[in-house]
Amino acid sequence: MTSKAIPLPHLVGFEERNGSWYAEDVPMADLANEFGTPLYVYSRKALTEAYQAYDRACVDASGKRRARVHYAMKANSNLAVIDCFKKLGAGFDLVSGGELARALAVNAESQSLVFAGVGKSAAEIAQALEAGVKCINVESIAELHQINRIATKLNCRAPISLRVNPDVDAQTHPYISTGLKGNKFGIAYHEVLKTYREAAQLPQIDVVGIDCHIGSQITTTAPYLDALNKVLDLVENLRKEGIVIHHLDLGGGLGISYGDEIPPDITEFTNILLDRVAERGFGHLDVVLEPGRSLVGNAGVLLTKVEYLKPGIEKNFCIVDAAMTELMRPALYEAHHGIVPVKTKPGKALTYDVVGPVCESGDWLGRDRQLAVEEGDLLAILSAGAYGFVMASNYNTRPKPAEIMVDGKNVYVIRKRENTKDLFASENTLPE
Ligand code: LLP
Repeated sequence: MTSKAIPLPHLVGFEERNGSWYAEDVPMADLANEFGTPLYVYSRKALTEAYQAYDRACVDASGKRRARVHYAMKANSNLAVIDCFKKLGAGFDLVSGGELARALAVNAESQSLVFAGVGKSAAEIAQALEAGVKCINVESIAELHQINRIATKLNCRAPISLRVNPDVDAQTHPYISTGLKGNKFGIAYHEVLKTYREAAQLPQIDVVGIDCHIGSQITTTAPYLDALNKVLDLVENLRKEGIVIHHLDLGGGLGISYGDEIPPDITEFTNILLDRVAERGFGHLDVVLEPGRSLVGNAGVLLTKVEYLKPGIEKNFCIVDAAMTELMRPALYEAHHGIVPVKTKPGKALTYDVVGPVCESGDWLGRDRQLAVEEGDLLAILSAGAYGFVMASNYNTRPKPAEIMVDGKNVYVIRKRENTKDLFASENTLPE
C-alpha cells in the first residue's frame, strides 16, 4: 500500500474546524505566526487523557491498584511534559544520568524511579544510588558486579532487577525490537537464574524485581503474553530457590496509531497481562508498566512552513522548513506520520514528497502525499509527540525548534527556540 491510502490517526486535542486545524482551542496558524516554525506543539488534554486511560486500566473494579505507570521519559523528556505526568501520579523509567536529573528537577519521588539502560556508566550508577531510586534494571553480569562495587564504595545497598531477554519476536521494526536473543538488551534467558543466584550472594545487592521489555510500537498483545509467560516461569523458579522478588516490570512498547495501525485497547491489554500474572499465582507482586510512546505520541504535532514547491519528472518535492533534524523517525525507520495543511485550501492536490532542507537524500518527512499547497503554507506533521524533539539534532548547524504546550485557550512556551550563536558558544578556535 502506498502512503497515500493511509488514513489520519484518531487524535485528542488536535482537530480540524471549518478548514483550520486547532490545538485545543488555539488555531495552529496563530501559534506558527507567534512562535515561528518549525514548532512542536503539545496538547495537555491529550497527555492527560492518555495517562488517565492507563491509570484507570491499572485499577480493578474493586478499586485495588494492580499496576503502576512509570512513564518512559526517553519518549519526550521536556520538563513540562514530565511534570504533567508527575502531577497525575506517574513514576518514571530513566535511561541516563541526564534523565535522572530531569526527574529530580520536577521533584519526582525517588521511589517512583526505575533506572534502566544497557551501558550505565559508573557515575550514573552512583548518581542513581545516591538519589535512592526504587530499582536499577541490570542488563549484564558485568554491570551487576559494577553496581555491587559502587554500592560498597558508597556504603549503601543497591536494589536491582534483572532485565530478562525473553527471546520473543515483537514483530516490529528491527531497530526498535529489543527482546530477541540477537539484540544487545537484557540478560540471555538461559543465564537469568544463574545471574539471580549470583546477585543474591553479592553483599551490597538487594534483589527486588524482574524486568523485561521486548520492543517498541508493538500493536498486538501476543508477544507480550509470550514474554510474560517466560518471565513468570523464571519467577516460579526463583520462588522455589527462595529468591524473593517484589515487583514485575513488564516494560513499555505498546504502539499507537500513526494511521492504519489498530493497537490494543489499554484496558483490555492490561487486563490480559494482569489476569495472567494473577492466574499464575503472582497477584501479590507489584506490576510496573513503562509506556512512553502511547502516552505522548499522539499528543504532539510538528508545525512546518512550505518553503518551495519543486515539480519534477519523477517526483514533486514540497520543501519545508522542518527536517530530519527536527523529526528523525522517517529517515531512521521509514516511519509514517500523517501530514495535513494547517488551513485546507481549494485547489488541485498534487502528489509530493515532503522533504527538509538538510543535505541528505534521507531527509524526508513524508512520501507520496496528496497535498493542495502553495509556498508559505503551513503543514502539521502529526503523531510527533514521541521520539520527536528528543531525537532532534543540530546537524547542519540548525537550532532546535521551540516547544509549546496548549492547555485549552492557554499557550505556554515550554522550551524556547535555540539561537544560532548558542550552538557554537562552547567551541574554540585554535591559538595562532
Ligand atoms: N522501557 C524500555 C526499557 C525501553 O527501552 C523503552 C523504549 C520503553 C520502556 C518505552 O517504549 P515505548 O512505550 O515508548 O515504545 N526511537 C524509536 C523508539 C525507541 C524505543 C526505545 N525504548 C522510535 O522513534 O520509534
